[in-house]
Amino acid sequence: MQFFNFFLNSSLLVLVLSMSTKTDGQVRKTIIVDQSGHGSFTTIQNAIDSVPSNNEAWTLIHVKAGIYNEKVTIPRDKPRILLQGESYSVQDTLTDSEGRHYFENCYIEGAVDFIWGNGRSIYQGCNLNVTASAQRSGMAAYITAQARDSVVDHSGFVFKEGWIFGTGPAYLGRAYKPYARVLFYRTRMSGIIVPQGWSAWNYVKKENSIVYAEVDCTGAGANKSKRVAWEKKLSSKDLSYLLDINTFINNGGWIQRQPKRGS
Ligand SMILES: *[C@@H]1O[C@H](CO)[C@@H](O)[C@H](O)[C@H]1NC(C)=O
Ligand SMILES: *[C@@H]1O[C@H](CO)[C@@H](O)[C@H](O)[C@H]1NC(C)=O
Repeated sequence: MQFFNFFLNSSLLVLVLSMSTKTDGQVRKTIIVDQSGHGSFTTIQNAIDSVPSNNEAWTLIHVKAGIYNEKVTIPRDKPRILLQGESYSVQDTLTDSEGRHYFENCYIEGAVDFIWGNGRSIYQGCNLNVTASAQRSGMAAYITAQARDSVVDHSGFVFKEGWIFGTGPAYLGRAYKPYARVLFYRTRMSGIIVPQGWSAWNYVKKENSIVYAEVDCTGAGANKSKRVAWEKKLSSKDLSYLLDINTFINNGGWIQRQPKRGS
């Protein structure tokens, strides 16, 4: 069972928090990953593999700067792992599925459905670098492909106070499942966003169930005058539910129980 998969490449800060129900909030062990061989491991996956299953203590995996082209899997039975990069990015595909996630100040680069899945996630202050035309000779990019598939599915992606830039054209999202839910809030969007903004993909004429919204975004790409008519206007109740870490992803208070970030 995979809890979380993503491809890592190089560059920027890092913080991926996984879910847990009990912990004393202290990092008990730190593992250094360093490609140049000066750490305990040269790959992130080997470091994760070294953590015992059902680990009671928090383990911080500190990734030294470098380009790590890995598909990293954190198994569900290793709940207390904190990944921290000096320099860290995700390129092409971030599989954000199964569970609640909090990403802070991450750098994510990609073109096709580059953040996808049915995760229930907040992306705080993340920079999204779209590389559509470079990789796909002018074909449009899709920043998200969210996979919420029913009204009772709690998943959704919320992007708060981040920045979208790069080379377009790019859609903010295409519906991977009929109840796809994505919110961009106070996001700075460069002019690479297509005027219509969103794609219903396989759910044309069924757009009522798709929950795509933008609130208080800025920049040339945030002009909503030609957006699809079915973009949703969230009620203030729904908006605050999605924006508030405590209501949307922090049930049970797992975020407060994360260890303090190491240096
Ligand atoms: C965005 O990604 C492209 C392609 O990898 C890269 O050349 C460019 O420097 C990136 N932009 C920023 C601001 O990181
Ligand atoms: C938004 O786009 C419309 C149509 O292209 C244009 O008339 C309008 O001036 C734009 N608004 C802003 C704030 O740039």
